[in-house]
Amino acid sequence: MDINTSWKNRALIDVSALRDNIKTIRSLASKSGLIAVVKANAYGHDMQVVVRELSSQVDGFAVASIEEGLSLREIDSKLPVMILSGFCDPSQLTSCASHQLDPVIHSLHQVDWIKDYTGRPLDVWLKFNSGMNRLGMGHDDFIQAYRKLEASPHIADIRLMSHFAIAEDLKDEFTRKQISEFNHAAMGLEREKSLANSAGIMCWPDSHFEWVRPGLMLYGISPLEDETTNYGLKPVMELQAKIISLQSLEQGDALGYGRTYTATRPMRIANLGIGYGDGYFRIVPDSAYVMISNQKAPIVGRISMDSMTVDVGNIENARIGESAVLWGVSPTVDQVADWAGTNAYEVMCKLSTRVPREIRDSG
Ligand SMILES: Cc1ncc(COP(=O)(O)O)c(C=O)c1O
Repeated sequence: MDINTSWKNRALIDVSALRDNIKTIRSLASKSGLIAVVKANAYGHDMQVVVRELSSQVDGFAVASIEEGLSLREIDSKLPVMILSGFCDPSQLTSCASHQLDPVIHSLHQVDWIKDYTGRPLDVWLKFNSGMNRLGMGHDDFIQAYRKLEASPHIADIRLMSHFAIAEDLKDEFTRKQISEFNHAAMGLEREKSLANSAGIMCWPDSHFEWVRPGLMLYGISPLEDETTNYGLKPVMELQAKIISLQSLEQGDALGYGRTYTATRPMRIANLGIGYGDGYFRIVPDSAYVMISNQKAPIVGRISMDSMTVDVGNIENARIGESAVLWGVSPTVDQVADWAGTNAYEVMCKLSTRVPREIRDSG
């Protein structure tokens, strides 16, 4: 059945911004290989779109699980794929081998499983716990695991990695401690290393080593609070919805579920066909807004599952079919995250599959 799709909400994925952000990352970490973190459907941007665009521009990808790695392999990319959570049972080693997925080994029990594995030799990442205390081995286990892997005929290359806990806070000395402990653990092993996430790339050059692992900044968002030091990163995603109806309110009329908002004057209200069922946040405060014709339209009344209402009293162009921007250049994903009491990662990951992702390429 044909329907007119010009009405649909959409998340525009600006692949030219993605390319520009890669250039920014390369300029900051010019001596390091670049592993693009595309887990959680490329932070909500659509893994297929992102991997297709970046396959010729990066040196590898990272995803969370073997399942995500298998989805990535269905896209035509031959680049190395790092599996950040590693493998959860010995049988998954065969999947890693047959799809050329490079698992992170974070615990000694995984090293023991490799003893019984007889397939093609695997490239692996050995994870050191430098203080995040989530995944990874402390110094003695790390060295023990390294020695066992080094002696195993089933392991090809071993690379070393760790992960930052608070690198976005330049004043926190903990990051310096993590870098130094990682260096100490890796001393004498003569292997390639990877530590830096986006914050590491932007703030801690000593952490770049042979491989950097950017996620957030790839998508044009800075992990730093200070927006002046974002190195010109460009937001990749713009979430748009259309005005599907207009209403006039008299002073004293209440609006939406719970009748929580009462008009204090005659008002012109636009209804956007997007709500928390699409991944927008029900709890945004009174100060939240969307942009229509480059003007702020304050959100009024409760966000529903499929719609929200905005005050367009001052926006002449607010007609049926007009687009509203819910996040992108303005308001930013960070701004929406502030309103929703969360972070930019969660805002992007929560965007529902109901919203089609569409490629925009401004050249
Ligand atoms: C192990 C690991 N490396 C790199 C990244 C990328 O981090 P960011 O998105 O902050 O750049 C993540 C993200 O969570 C991660 O878990």
